[in-house]
Amino acid sequence: MSSVTRCRHSRSGGLPALLVGAMTLALALAGGPATAAQPGTLHELATAKGRYFGSATDNSELADAAYAATLGSEFGQITPGNSMKWDTTEPVQGQFDFAKGDVITDFAARHDQTVRGHTLVWHSQLPNWVSALPATQVEAAMTRHITEEASHYRGAVTAWDVVNEPFNEDGTFRSSPFYDALGTGYIATALRAAHAADPDAKLYLNDYNIEGLGAKSDAMYALVRDLLDEGVPLDGVGMQAHLAVQYGFPYQMQANMKRFADLGLDVAVTELDVRMQLPADAAKAATQSTYYRQVVEACLAVERCVGVTIWDYTDKYSWVPSTFPGQGAANLYDENLLPKAAYAAVRTALGGEDGGGDGEPGTLTAQYRNNDRSVGDNQVKPGLQLVNSGTTPVSLSDVTLRYWFTSGNGASTYHTWCDWSPIGCSTVTHRVVAMGTPKAGADHYLEVGFGSGSLAPGATTGEIQLRLNKTDWSAFDESDDYSHGTGTSYADAPKVAVYVGGEQVWGLAP
Ligand code: XIL
Repeated sequence: MSSVTRCRHSRSGGLPALLVGAMTLALALAGGPATAAQPGTLHELATAKGRYFGSATDNSELADAAYAATLGSEFGQITPGNSMKWDTTEPVQGQFDFAKGDVITDFAARHDQTVRGHTLVWHSQLPNWVSALPATQVEAAMTRHITEEASHYRGAVTAWDVVNEPFNEDGTFRSSPFYDALGTGYIATALRAAHAADPDAKLYLNDYNIEGLGAKSDAMYALVRDLLDEGVPLDGVGMQAHLAVQYGFPYQMQANMKRFADLGLDVAVTELDVRMQLPADAAKAATQSTYYRQVVEACLAVERCVGVTIWDYTDKYSWVPSTFPGQGAANLYDENLLPKAAYAAVRTALGGEDGGGDGEPGTLTAQYRNNDRSVGDNQVKPGLQLVNSGTTPVSLSDVTLRYWFTSGNGASTYHTWCDWSPIGCSTVTHRVVAMGTPKAGADHYLEVGFGSGSLAPGATTGEIQLRLNKTDWSAFDESDDYSHGTGTSYADAPKVAVYVGGEQVWGLAP
């Protein structure tokens, strides 16, 4: 059974019933799907493109009902993050324990999802008894482990990461109890054992930093070509894709995927996340959205790329903060399980017409009131508030507002202040940014952001009373300022713009 060909359109996924109903009505009124907004989950969008869209998960997380609901509705494939690893499944030689993995395959069966088995042979999360084996006993232990586990999950797991992370960064083989005892041949032995145990499962080799062209992916390429030449059962290459905004996007990812596909192999993105140095900010979030989008685009451009799995869907359960101290915010949903700008970017890349997440244009509205009676004094005092006019909650950490003004003569350095806000000034960030290219009524803007929090549909932040001055306290002329208005009560302000993950979603920039 292939997840790619299964039809899952019957489900309405994570969309509230009312919204689906409204969309159906809109569809009917518009006379056909061509002009209507496209509903659907990430997996449904991917399925329409002949791919799956999946997430890693873990047993403890399934107790979180809100988490499990989205896991079960938005994704068509899941990968156990830990529960099929050797230290869990055979902690003592010959004593097999598949209880945790079974919870994952049961969840998948109940939610019409496929499961990627992860992983049979890996140097990490390996019980000590394996490392302590004499070299002469390693092959038998490895074969037995693979045989027991792949047989147990026959029919429940559609693809296996048979060998995980076989390479060092320079493309040499990584030392492990398996390589050290058996040489490179351990990989063919492992694949043959897995095939014998489950002839229907797709068998993969999986590694990180093989997403782009380079020494490590060259080594993987040479290995899989040799294995295919020898007739070893191998169906695909898994690219983990643990990316980071500070390290750049993998070099020529699409071309790299294509060379594996041209060997007749499937390619899967198996563990995608895009981490960043904390704290997150709008620029990093924008880069993150771009990377997520580019990975999805690369997969869609290569026919043999069968799907994308993210390494859990929410920052709440990400492996990143504990593994890379100081880094995080790597996932599509924030810690409150709200979709981030990257989620909207993925939807767009998958051909979705409605962003659905907080990147959807038009769901955020800026409102403005003039708190300053004098246009010629030494302070500018805009009152701003943000309204969620959409139907989905919005995570505030990706959102910024811009108020444009002219600085006039005097200092070009500023002090900015939040004087009062019902959401608390401590969660409001503010600074003045000089424009590279001044426009009429605008050579600087006040940028307002939020450290955390979320806005429910229909909710507002309430007013944020802002104030700025030049460090030399020289006067402004606000009368011609682009965003300046004279209204003294809050009203929609198209000349104040709203950005999500660096992308403008409300207002007109000068
Ligand atoms: C990670 C899990 O997510 C963590 O919970 C665990 O503590 C360590 O392993 N590459 C892999 C995955 O192939 O198995 C790793 O998963 C992440 C990196």
